[in-house]
Amino acid sequence: MSHVSQNYDFSDPGSAYTELARDLRALLQGERDLVANAANTSALIWEALPDLNWAGFYLYKSGELVLGPFQGKPACVRITIGKGVCGTAAARRETVLVEDVHAFPGHIACDSASNSEIVVPLLRGGELLGVLDLDSPKHARFGAADQQGLEALAKIFVESLQELRSTTENAGPSL
Ligand code: SME
Repeated sequence: MSHVSQNYDFSDPGSAYTELARDLRALLQGERDLVANAANTSALIWEALPDLNWAGFYLYKSGELVLGPFQGKPACVRITIGKGVCGTAAARRETVLVEDVHAFPGHIACDSASNSEIVVPLLRGGELLGVLDLDSPKHARFGAADQQGLEALAKIFVESLQELRSTTENAGPSL
């Protein structure tokens, strides 16, 4: 497997994530719809990052995580907060990086091809919106550079959800 995807060279992860962040910002520019922006974010990540078998969102609804837009095989729909890697990241409100999912107690196996995983919580202030979940067939696929880069992408996604509202508010009441 190669470090190079269609548009990004992850042999230098810092630069690749900087370019990806720029492209995500451009992709989400001017749109705040949650499903549309989650769908496009998961598609961009899926196209950009090498060695993934799943990339997508679980959204926090009525006290649990519910499957959102994603790329990859069909996945389990509902995850209890505190359960699996996704539920653990949601409960702790911090990124969980798992080098070997088979060694993670309570890991929820949606795709038997997965060997490593990273889950980044989506936070707006103190509010939990959901999680961004990436799976890989490679052991220890994700490291500190991925955590930093993906947390930056998650922040861009969360900020996009209020983009138009802020613009409208800044413009003041229409006459
Ligand atoms: N493995 C995750 C479940 C979601 S799938 O990977 C798409 C977990 O343990 O929470």
